[in-house]
Amino acid sequence: MHLYQDPHDEDVRLFLHYGDLTSSSLLARLITKIEPSEVYNLAAQSHVRVSFDIPEYTGDVVGLGTTRLLEAIREAAVPCRFYQASSSEMFGASSPPQSETTPFQPRSPYAIAKLYAHWTTVNYRESYGLHASTGILFNHESPRRGETFVTRKVAMAIPRILHGTQDFLYLGNLEARRDWGHARDYMKAVVKIVRHGTADDWVIGTGEDHSVLEFVEGAFTLVGLDWEKYVRVDPRYFRPVDIDVLRADASKARTELGWVPEVGFQALLHEMVEAEMRQSGLSLVTGMSAREDRTP
Ligand code: GDD
Repeated sequence: MHLYQDPHDEDVRLFLHYGDLTSSSLLARLITKIEPSEVYNLAAQSHVRVSFDIPEYTGDVVGLGTTRLLEAIREAAVPCRFYQASSSEMFGASSPPQSETTPFQPRSPYAIAKLYAHWTTVNYRESYGLHASTGILFNHESPRRGETFVTRKVAMAIPRILHGTQDFLYLGNLEARRDWGHARDYMKAVVKIVRHGTADDWVIGTGEDHSVLEFVEGAFTLVGLDWEKYVRVDPRYFRPVDIDVLRADASKARTELGWVPEVGFQALLHEMVEAEMRQSGLSLVTGMSAREDRTP
C-alpha cells in the first residue's frame, strides 16, 4: 500500500494492469500501451516442489512466458531494458560455490524452465542487441515470503505453537543447505543490474550457506523453544530429487556493480520471526516467557 499514491499526485503513481504470461497478444498490447523503459520479468510458478506436480504449466509460464514477453518487446520495438529473474536452482547438482561460469545441472522442472528462459534472454541480447540481463539470484527471503517456502513456514509456525493453535511443524528435507539472503538487498542488486551500462549475467548471493535445520534451530531458539519437541519430518514434503548445497560466488557483482549484501543469516531470521510474533500480538520476549506452558 505504501507504493500507492493519491491519483491527484502527479509525481509518482502505481498502475496495475491485468496480464498473463500465457497470452502473447495481451503482452504485446500491454507493452505497446505502456511503452516501459524497464521490464522486470519476476513472474513464475516459482515453487520447486510444486513444479514436479505441474511440470507442463511451469514450463509454459516460466519458460515460454519469457519468450512471449521478449517477443512482445521486440515486436513493439520499444527501447526498453529487460531483466530476467534467473535462479540458483539452475545450478542444481553443480558443486558450490556457484558463479557465472559454473555449469548448469538443473534438478527440477522449475529449474529446467528457468534455464530455458535464461538462455532465451541471452539469445535476445546476442541476436537483437536488446539490453537484456539476467540475475541468477540465490534464495532471498523476508517477512513477505510466500507461506509455503520453508523460511516463512518455519517463522509462521512459532507464534502458532506458542498460542497453542499448532502442535507440530511438519517439514521435509532438513539437511539441504541454501545461501539465504534478504530480498531487500537482492532487489537493490536487481536495479543495479538493469541500470548497468552493459547487459550481462550476474550471480547474486551472500556466499554463506546454512542448512534448513540451522534455520529451524535458530528460529526456535529466538523464542526459547526446543525445536526437537515440535518439528516432525513428513516425507510428503520431500522432493523427488533435491539440491544439496547452493552457495554463491558473487564476486563479479561485488567488483563490477559494487553490490554487497547488508543483512546476514541471523539478522534475517530474527526479522522474519519477529514479524510473525508481532502479527500475532506477541514479542520475542513474551515468546520466551510463554514457552514454559507449551508441552505438546
Ligand atoms: N518449501 C519447503 N517446505 N521446503 C522445505 C520443507 C518444507 O516443508 N522442508 C524442507 N524443505 C527444504 C526444501 O527441500 C529445499 O531443499 C529447501 O528447504 C528450500 O526450499 P524452499 O524454501 O521451497 O526454496 P527453494 O530453494 O526450493 O527455491 C526458492 O529459491 C530459489 C532460488 O534458489 C524459490 O524461491 C525459487 O523460486 C527460487 O528460484
